[in-house]
Amino acid sequence: MRGLAGKGVLITGGSSGIGAATARRFLTEGARVVLCGLGEDEVAAAVAELSGLGAVDGLACDVSDPGQVAALMEHAVAVLGRVDVLINNAGTAWREPFLEITPAHWDTIMAVNLRGMFLVGQAAARHMVERGGGAIVNMSSTNGLGGEADYAHYNSSKGGVLLLTRTMAVELGPLGVRVNAVCPGYIRTPLNSAIAADLDPGFVSGYEREQIPLGRAGLADEVAGAYAFLASDDASFVNGAELVVDGGQLARM
Ligand SMILES: NC(=O)c1ccc[n+]([C@@H]2O[C@H](COP(=O)([O-])OP(=O)(O)OC[C@H]3O[C@@H](n4cnc5c(N)ncnc54)[C@H](O)[C@@H]3O)[C@@H](O)[C@H]2O)c1
Repeated sequence: MRGLAGKGVLITGGSSGIGAATARRFLTEGARVVLCGLGEDEVAAAVAELSGLGAVDGLACDVSDPGQVAALMEHAVAVLGRVDVLINNAGTAWREPFLEITPAHWDTIMAVNLRGMFLVGQAAARHMVERGGGAIVNMSSTNGLGGEADYAHYNSSKGGVLLLTRTMAVELGPLGVRVNAVCPGYIRTPLNSAIAADLDPGFVSGYEREQIPLGRAGLADEVAGAYAFLASDDASFVNGAELVVDGGQLARM
C-alpha cells in the first residue's frame, strides 16, 4: 500500500486476533507500531512475537478508562514521535438473548466498544489535528448493519460506531484527518472461538457454508488488508466510508 512505510501507527486491541494480524501487516509495510491490549501478559507476548518484523512496542490499557487512554496516547507519542494512523480496533462480545441482558452487561459492552472508541479516537484526533493530519479506522461489524439475534448490546455498540465514524469524518475531514470504518463479518479469531465453544461444531460449519457465499469464515489477515488500505494513501479520497469484509454474507437475500 502507498504511504505506510515509516508511519507511526497505534493499534488498540493489537495483542490478539484481527488487531495482532493488523500489527503484523503494518510492520510488513514498514510502519512503526504501538499496540495495546487489556492484559499486560498478552501485550508482552504479542510484542515479543512481532518484534522480528520491525519496530513494535506495547502497553496494557483499558480503552474505556479516560486516564488509561491518556497514558496510552502519551506513550504512543513518546515512542513513535508522531501518531499518523489510529487503528481503533479493541472490542468485546458475547451471546446473550435480549430478554436476559442485564444493565451491567449492556454498560460493559458499550463502555469498551463505543465509549472506548470515542475516547481513543478523540485523543488521537486531537494529536493529529495539532500535527497537521492523519487517518483513523474504526472497527464496526456487519452487526452494526443488521440485527443478529442474541447480540442486542453488541449490535447497538457497533451501529453506534458507524455514526461516530461518519460524524468524525465530517468534523475532522476539513482538519486533515480521514476517518473510516471496517465492517467484518464472521472472522476466525480467539473472540469467535470462545463464542463457538458453546455451539455444536456442525452448526458452525453449516453456518459458514450456508450463510456466507464464499463458504468459509474470514481470516484476520483479510481484515488487516482492509485496515491497511483505508489507512494508506491509496484511500486518499475515502472518508466517512464503511468497508464490508464478510465474504458476501450481507449481500444475500
Ligand atoms: N471476529 C469477528 O468475527 C469480528 C467481526 C466483526 C468485528 N469484530 C471486531 O474486531 C475487533 C477485534 O476482535 P477479535 O475478533 O480480533 O477479538 P480478540 O478477542 O481476538 O481481540 C480483542 C482485542 O481487544 C482487546 N480488548 C478487549 N477489551 C479491551 C479493553 N477494554 N481495552 C483495551 N483492549 C481491549 C483484547 O486485549 C484483544 O487485544 C473487535 O472490536 C470486534 O468486535 C470481530
